[in-house]
Amino acid sequence: MDASALAPLSECPTCRRAPLAPGPSAWRCGACGAEYPVTDAIPWLYRDPGPVLGEWKNRLTLYLEDFALEERLIAADFASATLAATRTRLDAFLAACREQRALIAALLAPLGLGEGPAPHATQLAVATRVPQHQDLHSYYANLHRDWVWGEAENEAARALVASAFGTLAGKRLLVLGAGAGRLCYDLAEGERPALTVALDINPLLLYALSRLARGERFALYEFPLAPVAELAVKRELRAPRAASAPLVCLFADALEAPFAAQSFDAVLTPWLVDILDEDFARLALRVSRLLAPGGRWVNFGSLSFAQRRPGLRYGRAELREVLAATGFAVAGDSETRIPYMQSPASRHARLETVYCFAADKRERAPREAPPPAPPVWASDLSAPVPLDESLKLTALATRLQAFMLALVDGERSVNDIAGFVVEQKLLPHDQAVAAVRALLLQLAEQASRTGPR
Ligand SMILES: C[S@@+](CC[C@H](N)C(=O)[O-])C[C@H]1O[C@@H](n2cnc3c(N)ncnc32)[C@H](O)[C@@H]1O
Repeated sequence: MDASALAPLSECPTCRRAPLAPGPSAWRCGACGAEYPVTDAIPWLYRDPGPVLGEWKNRLTLYLEDFALEERLIAADFASATLAATRTRLDAFLAACREQRALIAALLAPLGLGEGPAPHATQLAVATRVPQHQDLHSYYANLHRDWVWGEAENEAARALVASAFGTLAGKRLLVLGAGAGRLCYDLAEGERPALTVALDINPLLLYALSRLARGERFALYEFPLAPVAELAVKRELRAPRAASAPLVCLFADALEAPFAAQSFDAVLTPWLVDILDEDFARLALRVSRLLAPGGRWVNFGSLSFAQRRPGLRYGRAELREVLAATGFAVAGDSETRIPYMQSPASRHARLETVYCFAADKRERAPREAPPPAPPVWASDLSAPVPLDESLKLTALATRLQAFMLALVDGERSVNDIAGFVVEQKLLPHDQAVAAVRALLLQLAEQASRTGPR
């Protein structure tokens, strides 16, 4: 469906003062003039969307290069394979990787393939706002689970979430972290909300959802975790039928959802809250801001918070308390064992205990603190940038790394490089050797990640 249906609910991600005016190639803020690109009819509603798009283009380039690398590895193994069966298997795998590379490139063509991404070094240097651990392929298996073989799991999820919401008919539903989107589609088609917004950061998943919801079909290879037979299985992805209910896709960050306060009657966070780099209590205030009073938040998925701080790895009882403290009345919560990622092509098949809660926003809920005002130097480009302690530290660490890396010339050893670091009095000898070795090892490990993902 045309994304402009969500324009009246939108709020400019830059100035936060006005809704956006939709357009076919860009949305525009009438108050501050900021523009937001549209690709394949999906708007990118980010503050500074350019670098975000650039980052995904880069990640696409790297993703496609991974396939090319895998193809070279397969070809090398094929040449030295002694068993006929191994050659047959590798031959099929090589053909699959080649075709998959073309299929992925076609699916992600709306990102702007061929325009040439910004150099990767530049992207890394500008410290992207796309989380480092969220990659194009991070939830690739969801595509096949959602649209090929996951019927039992999809139906279990739909039934749990629909019952937690009670009724969605005529309501405005926002799904944060929609992924490949089968749950959004099933809720839109089955429960008939007035509008369903599928928000995610991942172009591979959202382009797929958007095409499937339009009734298109396309093929992608599945790479089973523990193959029953083939290493790659070609699958056709399709929705039961083109979506007949209003379902809109949107590229945005769940942590800075570009909507005016109280724009939604229902918010769903499926398999999301524990993968975000944010305290659940802060997220609760964000969800509360988006909901109209009396609106319902349903959460569904695992509770495996990966936060560095142990205090933020909440359990079920703590979540209920956090919800109460952030202005929600918990209408119910439950734990249910459901099938999870049970691909017929894989020997792995899991059962997962999912946690689901329904929480209603109370009339007098505490407010999310407004985001801190952007620093003066971000808008006045001639204003001085203050040098605080954390910036000093980052600058020092970056200079040190740059110094060490510039000394790698293909000839020097770790000891040689550390010798220069000591000579320049940057670090004492033992620390210099350890630092050079650790940095280079870390980079080598990163570079050695191989295989289609
Ligand atoms: C574990 S997957 C769950 C996907 C889907 N909800 C499902 O149930 O299959 C997490 C999803 O959240 C998305 N995501 C991660 N960080 C996000 C963020 N900051 N804002 C919006 N989506 C995010 C990922 O791209 C991914 O699609």
